[in-house]
Amino acid sequence: MSTAGKYALVTGSSRGIGRGIAIKLAGKGARVAVHYYQNEDAAKVTLSKVRECGSDGFLVQADVCRHEDVGRMFGRVKAEFGKLDIFVHNARPDLPGFYTGPMNITLEQWDTALNSQAKAFLVGAREASQLMRDGGRIIGITYAPGGRFGSWQPWVAMGSAKAAMESLCRYFAVALARRRITVNAISPGWIEDSVLNTLPKEAQQKIRDWHEGGWIPMGHLGTPADIGNAVALLCSDEASWITGQTLAVDGGASLMETVMPLDMQQAVPRAAEVA
Ligand SMILES: NC(=O)c1ccc[n+]([C@@H]2O[C@H](COP(=O)([O-])OP(=O)(O)OC[C@H]3O[C@@H](n4cnc5c(N)ncnc54)[C@H](OP(=O)(O)O)[C@@H]3O)[C@@H](O)[C@H]2O)c1
Repeated sequence: MSTAGKYALVTGSSRGIGRGIAIKLAGKGARVAVHYYQNEDAAKVTLSKVRECGSDGFLVQADVCRHEDVGRMFGRVKAEFGKLDIFVHNARPDLPGFYTGPMNITLEQWDTALNSQAKAFLVGAREASQLMRDGGRIIGITYAPGGRFGSWQPWVAMGSAKAAMESLCRYFAVALARRRITVNAISPGWIEDSVLNTLPKEAQQKIRDWHEGGWIPMGHLGTPADIGNAVALLCSDEASWITGQTLAVDGGASLMETVMPLDMQQAVPRAAEVA
């Protein structure tokens, strides 16, 4: 599938990673439905950037925690585009909605996380597939470490929700394979110009220092454009036989072992050692 002339919906594309994905797809010739929750002004900025790329699209508002809203969002896509080729589920509620450890999290916070990822993806993938032409692409933006590990305690609900979404990707991949619709997840590492920049300055600096200190082999944070590139890659013709996978796009972060000191892993070879 070539991206030119295609129709895409990117949830949470008012800012952050979603904006990077929307701009990349627009740059490759796709029309983009720019979804937002509350931040219409930011969504308008994304849409203007889509238009600067020579493409077009429209704005659509929805709370992805409410399945009725997800259905309404696809109704709007049908009315505006009449079809769909690419659905990227990227939206995630802001941290106060769910960010609490397992001993104290409220059931409301738990539901916010699960509804925004698992239920929204279940409903979204079904709705998308009905609008989609054969050979389409469905992509969930996850954070795979949160679903595998247990150390980041306040992430318990979102980690569980993302793990459920990754699992759904595999089930939908099989369900839609005969229509050549691929369904994959992308797992970014820490990304600049995203939720990271809403954290206290001290926390942001700690994360940057950690990246530069050797635990991430490439030694720096990613960008929304890096994730847009990965989405474009999965949307290309060349990726037509890749389905049901979770792709880490993290500068090698997921390759590091936590049970060994960094110097023993030789994460940062000196220039002389490389030569
Ligand atoms: N940032 C990272 O380093 C990182 C790393 C790994 C994975 N991820 C994943 O990448 C995705 C994007 O992260 P980000 O940091 O770029 O996000 P972000 O900057 O915090 O933006 C969140 C987006 O989701 C929308 N949103 C918030 N609550 C919503 C709701 N209830 N219903 C519908 N949309 C809602 C926001 O819309 P408004 O602007 O209208 O509020 C915004 O467009 C998330 O799924 C996240 O888990 C991020």
